[in-house]
Order: sequence, then C-alpha cells, then structure tokens
Amino acid sequence: MADLLSIERLSAGYGEAVVLADLSFSLAEGRSLALLGRNGMGKTTLINSIVGVTHRFGGTIKLAGRDITRMRPDQRAHAGVGWVPQERNIFKSLTVDENLTAVSRPGAWTPARVYQLFPRLAERRGNMGNQLSGGEQQMLAVGRALVLNPRLLLLDEPLEGLAPIIVDELLAALKRIIVDEGLSAILVEQNAQKTLGVTDRAMILERGVIVHEADSAALKADRGVLESYLGVTDARPRRAAAH
Ligand SMILES: Nc1ncnc2c1ncn2[C@@H]1O[C@H](COP(=O)(O)OP(=O)(O)OP(=O)(O)O)[C@@H](O)[C@H]1O
Ligand SMILES: [Mg+2]
Repeated sequence: MADLLSIERLSAGYGEAVVLADLSFSLAEGRSLALLGRNGMGKTTLINSIVGVTHRFGGTIKLAGRDITRMRPDQRAHAGVGWVPQERNIFKSLTVDENLTAVSRPGAWTPARVYQLFPRLAERRGNMGNQLSGGEQQMLAVGRALVLNPRLLLLDEPLEGLAPIIVDELLAALKRIIVDEGLSAILVEQNAQKTLGVTDRAMILERGVIVHEADSAALKADRGVLESYLGVTDARPRRAAAH
C-alpha cells in the first residue's frame, strides 16, 4: 500500500529547543497508528509538527507523495491533515451546529453523519460550545475534524480526563471511524490498552526518539515492553500466572 504519511529525519521543537531528533516513520493509506509514551516524551510535538506549528530544524514530511514540509498549517489542513488538538479547540460561543457547519467541506463526513456517530451532539445541536460537558466538547472536536474530510486524522489524547462511560462511547466512535471506515489516523494516548484495540500499528516515543514499533496486537500482549516504556500496564495479570 502506498504511504499516506512519510516522515524522514525530522528534527523539531520550540525556539532553540530540539524535542524530536532525527525521527523517521511512515503510515500507509487506510492504516492507523497508536503513538504512545510517558508525559513530556514528545507525542504532542510530533503531532504539532505534522500540523505545522512547531519549529522544524530539519527533515521532510510528505502527505500522499506531496512535500508539505514548508506549507503553513492552513495549507496542510487543506492538503488533508485533520487535527483534534489536546486542548479541544471548539468555538465556545457558537452552537454545536454552527461549530460543524462553519468548517464543513464537501465529502463523506457531513454534520448529519457526525450526529449519527454522536447522538449526544444531535440532542445538543442548539447549545453553545461552552454549555457542553467535557466529553461532549471532545465529541464536537472530533466532529469538527471529520467534517473537514481529512485524509489523515490526528487525535491528541482524545480520551484524557473523561469519565469512563464517555471514554467507552468515544472509543466506540473512534473504532467506527478508524476500523470500519478505514480513515488513516494517528492516535495519541496514555491508555495503551484502549488505544491498541483500535489501531493497526504502535510506536513508543521516549525523549523524542522512537524506541519501539510493533503491531498493536503484539504490543498489547507485550507486558515487558509496556512496563519498561510506559511504566504501568493496565493489562490485568492472569490469576493462574500470578500464584
Ligand atoms: N510550547 C513549548 N515550548 C517549549 N517547550 C515545549 C513546549 N511544549 C512542549 N515543550 C517541551 O517539549 C517536550 C515534549 O513535550 P510534548 O508536549 O510533546 O510531550 P507529550 O508526550 O505530548 O506529553 P503529554 O503526555 O504530557 O501531553 C517537553 O519537554 C516539553 O516541556
Ligand atoms: Mg501531549
């Protein structure tokens, strides 16, 4: 399968500080990647570098064969980079409906389909962004990225700080988007087990360097790697093995 995203020897950071050093990887069309790592390891910096809001020191970024390295963030969005930032950038003083229609572009994902995906949003379509719960705001942030009909969807910790029931709802929606619809995506998460259930491949970052790459299913079962790089595994030890 052809590469949708191809990153070669990327070094990037903020101001003078290099956070990502000489990083290379690619993602095939229709595939998904879990981007894992402890706090401060460079996950957001990598996502932001694809979006185009970090300082690049070197390297190239290609989307579907097109060099987007020197494009502005708005040009990259137009080229097909969709982004759900860690801080959920919805318009707080617009309604749910206005948030979606303001940015909608022609394609398979329409506001109506977003409402099918998130019935909670449909019920609150007349509410202002600032009248939504954290979970609903996150659903709206995902919906806003979808109606731009991106070729690649970047999700930065979409489950962070949400109640367990909302986490499950969002995960089910992400599964539909990524697994059933086959939208290419990079999903940043702290919760490895949940993320690995919806992605094909996984990559672990440590201090801006890729320290492990594997199929998600293999990593999910690899307690040693999960423990050494991510600290805790939320995989429950099997009782029989524990005693
Ligand atoms: N705007 C910024 N200016 C300067 N340094 C920054 C900035 N944002 C992040 N950093 C630094 O870059 C490094 C990587 O941060 P980054 O936000 O990419 O980590 P992360 O893996 O996304 O962490 P988290 O899981 O906490 O979101 C950290 O050392 C952080 O302090
Ligand atoms: Mg982050």
